[in-house]
Formats: sequence, C-alpha cells, structure tokens
Amino acid sequence: MSEKKLVVAVVGATGAVGREMLKTLESRNFPATEVVPFASARSAGTKVPYGDSELVVRELKEDVFEGIDIAIFSAGGSTSEKYAPHAAAAGCIVVDNSSAWRMDERCPLVVPEVNPEALEGHNGIIANPNCSTIQMVVALKPLHDAAGIRRVVVSTYQAVSGSGQKGISELETQVRQMFNLKEPEVNVYPHRIAFNCIPHIDVFLENDYTKEEMKMVHETVKIMRDPNVKVTATCVRVPVFYGHSESVNIETERKLSAKEARAILAQAPGVQVYDNPSEKMYPLAVDAAGEDATYVGRIREDDTIPNGLNMWIVADNIRKGAALNAVQIAEELVRRDLLGVKDRTVFIKK
Ligand code: A2P
Repeated sequence: MSEKKLVVAVVGATGAVGREMLKTLESRNFPATEVVPFASARSAGTKVPYGDSELVVRELKEDVFEGIDIAIFSAGGSTSEKYAPHAAAAGCIVVDNSSAWRMDERCPLVVPEVNPEALEGHNGIIANPNCSTIQMVVALKPLHDAAGIRRVVVSTYQAVSGSGQKGISELETQVRQMFNLKEPEVNVYPHRIAFNCIPHIDVFLENDYTKEEMKMVHETVKIMRDPNVKVTATCVRVPVFYGHSESVNIETERKLSAKEARAILAQAPGVQVYDNPSEKMYPLAVDAAGEDATYVGRIREDDTIPNGLNMWIVADNIRKGAALNAVQIAEELVRRDLLGVKDRTVFIKK
C-alpha cells in the first residue's frame, strides 16, 4: 500500500527553535513523507541534522510552498507576515511561532491540550502562542474549568533561549568575559544579562507594560475564550539558558483548596505536578530543560483573599513553549483531517 504524501516544511530551520522543531518531528515520528528546511539566503546550501541524516537548507522565497502540506514557521514576525499569506494561497497550512498572526481573528491561536477545537474551520494560518502564555494556560485551563478563574497575577523568569540563538550566545559570551575580568559587551538585551535580571522583554507600550506582558494578557483570553479572565503580567529576562519559570497567583470564583488543585492538575494533559517542598521538590528550569511537560509546584493557598492560590509553573520554552506545541498542532491537524486550505484568498484579498 502506498504511503499518503505529507510534506512538511520548517521555516527558520537553522535557528534555535527551528532545529528543535526538526528534532521534535523526528522524535515523535510525525508521519511526514518529506521534511524540507528553509532559512534565509545566508544559509541556503548548508545542512541541518534530521534524525541520523542531514537535510540541505533551501532559501525561503514566496513561490516555494506549492506541494507543501504544512509549514511550521519560526523565523521572526516580519518573515511570517511576508511569507505566510503566500503559503496559505498555495494551499499550505502555516503553523506560525511568531507573534505576527496571534491576535488576527482569522487565525486560531492554539494550545492542543487547551483548545484544539479552535483548529476546525481554520483559514490556512494557525498561530502558536507566546512561550510564557503556553505553559501558563496548560496549567490554568483545568483549574478554570473547575473553579472559574477571575484574575491572574503572573511574574515570569524567562530564559535567554527565548530570544533565539543570539540570546544564548549573549549570555555565554558575557559570562566568559566577566570570568576573564573583562567588561561584558551588551548587544542583544538593553542591559547586561549575565548575573542580572531585566524587567524588560520586547518593547514598551503606551500603557507602560511591555509587549511581552500584553501578549500574556490578550493571548490568555483568546485561548481560554473567556473575557472574564483578567490577567496582569510582569515579564523578566533572567540568566538561565533553557526553561521559563512563572510565579502565578490566581483568584477563582469557587474556592479551590491546594489539595484539590493538586488533584486536578495531576489529571491534566501535559501537566506534571512536582510539589513536595519538605523534600526540596519543586519545578526547576534545569530539570524542565529538554522535557515536554509543564511542571507545577509550590501550590499553596493565598490567604490574603477568599479564593486564592499561588503556584510555580516551569516548562522548556523551546519545546512546549515553541517547537513541541507547533508540532502538536500539526499532529492535531492530521488527526482531525484538517489538511488543505479551503479558501486560499483569505489572506491575500485585503
Ligand atoms: P538564517 O540562519 O539563514 O539567518 P533564531 O531565532 O535562533 O535567531 O533563528 C531565526 C531563524 O529564522 C533562522 O533559521 C534564520 O535563518 C531564519 N530567518 C531569519 N530571517 C529570515 C528571512 N528573511 N527569510 C528566511 N529565514 C529567515
């Protein structure tokens, strides 16, 4: 019996997330008959690892999407804005990791454990949420279903890999420079990141929040499909290579004890409860790095309000926060038989 053709492209295949996407497709045995890596003209002809072999990187152009079924993009917002409509017009479904399409009402914003049904009736471009949002909603959705979350106060501790390869290199270089008693060079972040915390991710907006913080606010509401969930966020870059951590305080309509919350989360898809403080067991970025799960610990009642809980949520930002979530969306498209783009004009008519 001949295998059904399923061609998958990874756009931004030479980047930190793109490489992880290739690894994830391979390790999860994604049923692709062919995987095609794309990057900028700079990388055309170079090779990227895929399983035991290597794939030759092709240059991304507007006309490359014919014959490709799914293109997973992680090459920055401007690349997605420019190329994703061409992909959809060629009948190729885009799963986009940038922020370019997330709040566009034509595009579902999907975390497969939370709102996979949003994929039905897609128009060809599907958005992968922000890394900090993904891990938070994976943990909060089951608590919302059980007790109705009304308010979320989140502070993030975000790894440098969230800025791509250049963020990883910046921290490495600065640490090396400082151990050699040299003045660290600051290129990527607004200040030194080595041995420091920077409460500034993405640009500042008119309301004095950063764009990263407002992504968490708006994306959470869109994914949970509940405008009654109010979110306020402070996003902080920390000198950690892989794994975002989050301190999350929630206020619920119905009282949830810490024990109940632990029991709900223990059953939740994609979540692992790791919560035994007396044994020094709580989620750590270094343990979450390289893993698929979203870890939740330090679950405790907030007795300053009637129905409050505090928790600590950690996940690998490159995996669940980016590559894994995107590949899970692609898997869900296959499972639900949603391949193909019904109306190829949605993003090009304007
Ligand atoms: P390249 O390596 O050719 O620059 P990271 O987030 O780790 O910095 O990775 C960004 C990814 O996006 C890289 O694979 C990069 O390719 C790719 N990329 C950046 N700009 C473009 C572009 N204009 N067209 C295609 N790919 C791009």
